[in-house]
Amino acid sequence: MKNPRITVTTLRKMKREGEKITMLTAYDAGFARVLDQQGIDIILVGDSLGMVIQGHETTVPVTMDEMVYHTKLVSRVAQHALVLGDLPFMSYTSPEMALRNSTRLMQEGGAHMVKLEGGAPQVNTVAQLAHYGVPVCAHLGLQPQSVHKLGGYRVQGRDDSTAKQILADAIALQNAGADMLVLECVPTTLAQEITQTVTIPVIGIGAGVNCDGQVLVLHDMLGISAHAPKFSRNFMVGGATIPDAIKAYNDAVKQGTFPSAEHWFV
Ligand code: KIV
Repeated sequence: MKNPRITVTTLRKMKREGEKITMLTAYDAGFARVLDQQGIDIILVGDSLGMVIQGHETTVPVTMDEMVYHTKLVSRVAQHALVLGDLPFMSYTSPEMALRNSTRLMQEGGAHMVKLEGGAPQVNTVAQLAHYGVPVCAHLGLQPQSVHKLGGYRVQGRDDSTAKQILADAIALQNAGADMLVLECVPTTLAQEITQTVTIPVIGIGAGVNCDGQVLVLHDMLGISAHAPKFSRNFMVGGATIPDAIKAYNDAVKQGTFPSAEHWFV
């Protein structure tokens, strides 16, 4: 029987039943097909493509046209995975602009859900998108599009007041209608508290093993990035083929053996 498409309903059920959700990035049809065949639940067409595909130092230069193009390549072949498309830097500075650009990601790109970075300032935008039937994944903790404002890629939420703010933002975004949350580079105890507090699935990256699922940048876990972060693991070690490495990642997340203590922050 054909493997049915993962939907927002599937993801909520997985959270309720404690089944870990697997997510990886892909930016083209070839890799998207491999991820789909190996059972990855969500393919993120991330604006990380600015770094790993285009060779930029940050995600800031990525444009809306580029995101639409890469999302189209992925959605053309993904049969099982939910396709999540990133809204790039400055493409959602008002609810109207977010609606216009989400329409492009979904109609031209074929995305099933869109992702945007930001907490309280994005609550109105998320509410508008939800109102018009756009599934939204919010992104809290380290927000790479703000790297120049942050002064570098740093763990977020280490002190009491920022931890409380991230938790409050997660609740506000959920109440505004967000369907999922990516939590990047926050202490493992904070990630656990947020995951237990909200009812939407929480996908961690550098956020410990207690999230509802995990995401990595494909090039990091294949060991071909210029600088793989501490929270990633090279799943090619041991001489695996690329499909084997993707399967090993999928199995490790589902079984709760990735990430381990060396990949998270306290
Ligand atoms: O763009 C991306 O790949 C991302 C992940 C780091 C979550 O947003």
